[in-house]
Amino acid sequence: MAKLKVKFVCTECGTESPKWMGKCPGCHAWNTMVEEAETVVKAPVGRTELTRTKEKAQSIIHIDSGREPRIPTGLGELNRVLGGGLVPGSLLLVGGDPGIGKSTLLLQTSHALTAQGLKVLYVSGEESVRQTKLRADRLGALSEGLYVLCETNLDLVEEAIAQVNPDFLVIDSIQTVYRPDVPSAPGSVAQVRECTAQFMRISKGNGVATVLVGHVTKEGAIAGPRLLEHMVDCVLYFEGERHHSYRLLRAVKNRFGSTNEIGIFDMSEDGLREVTNPSELFLSERPLGVSGSTVVASMEGTRPVLVELQALVAPTNFPSPRRLSSGLDHHRITLVIAVLEKRMGMFMQNQDAYVNVAGGVKLDEPAADLAAAVSIASSFRDLPTRPFDAVFGEVGLTGEVRAVTRAEQRVKEALKLGFKRVILPEASMKGWQAPAGIELVPVKSVAEALKAALE
Ligand code: TYD
Ligand code: MG
Repeated sequence: MAKLKVKFVCTECGTESPKWMGKCPGCHAWNTMVEEAETVVKAPVGRTELTRTKEKAQSIIHIDSGREPRIPTGLGELNRVLGGGLVPGSLLLVGGDPGIGKSTLLLQTSHALTAQGLKVLYVSGEESVRQTKLRADRLGALSEGLYVLCETNLDLVEEAIAQVNPDFLVIDSIQTVYRPDVPSAPGSVAQVRECTAQFMRISKGNGVATVLVGHVTKEGAIAGPRLLEHMVDCVLYFEGERHHSYRLLRAVKNRFGSTNEIGIFDMSEDGLREVTNPSELFLSERPLGVSGSTVVASMEGTRPVLVELQALVAPTNFPSPRRLSSGLDHHRITLVIAVLEKRMGMFMQNQDAYVNVAGGVKLDEPAADLAAAVSIASSFRDLPTRPFDAVFGEVGLTGEVRAVTRAEQRVKEALKLGFKRVILPEASMKGWQAPAGIELVPVKSVAEALKAALE
């Protein structure tokens, strides 16, 4: 019997090597090389036909730049993340922890699409047809145009696609399907890569919008090579905390729209519900009149969202104090603490500092700096913040408060939620009219902001 040749493949970047290496020669990641059987694939690897029609190169002036046709999915929050709806012939990857609700989201989406008269093929490699039916029953997602197939062999999946000729195809999940002509096990780097390439050919060739569900590894990346993310048109992550019912859908890559928007859902007894007023949800558990809690008026894409930013500053006996943050960039927290120490004389070398954005939201705009400064100072001095203040502004290295975009939208959202005051950068006051019913406190420096917020 011929000995099966093996090679080693990096799960991060797909670099191959004939022998095992602790450090990948391609991306220099450690312990990412895994053993794979040598693949013998008929189609050339790494080269995928995008279209069936042979096209000639043409002058950019003559290219029709009409907008891509979009299929609105019927779920407003999903449309928002996709940039309007599904693009026919596009390939999407939806990642997320097990049990977060990926199958639920896609089943609901499938149902909403069939309601528009479209045909959907839902391929499940993880659950039986009966389980899928039971779930659909619970979600009220039974419809004539929704076809379900439990199959993991890609050749048979392709037969079903030819038979059903769907407008929307769901593969739940990409780690369970396999190509029989690739000798590695399902879920291996080679299988995931080859199957994805095959689905890309199918979606581009037939113009069917295809969603691949991908599992997430312990480190939080979609299992399988990073290559997968490069191959698809959009990568969406479905996130949430195990102990909370709300779920965030965010795009980390989108060839047809922005990656700034997030979609917010609430997992209930009868499936996912869209959350149209996220600020209310994120502030629902907020303690009032305590130290270390501030509400920041932030932007999630084009939508203003108010979230609570908490800080705890506590003495430590260790020589190097801890700086932990979740939901905020660690470097910005270090910067804010340095500014408080140097400009405000708050000595925190013997204090641990923890910063947390409530509700598992991630704030990646500098507008959260000022709220972080207020929360940290409030906890450090043990002075409560006022419950009906909202804060936003970027903090500079000299302790100045710098302008941020969309001040008016942030203020209006605070007003809508019943806040009484907003502390904001003075430089953001230009070019708009302050609405009636809310007091604005323009500040130029962190010192002024702390005086207004804590005294
Ligand atoms: P699921 O969609 O199976 O997650 P994934 O495909 O990402 O693994 O969701 C499973 C969880 O969602 C499970 O813990 C039960 C819960 N759930 C509800 O709370 N309500 C529902 O209507 C449904 C269908 C699931
Ligand atoms: Mg599932």
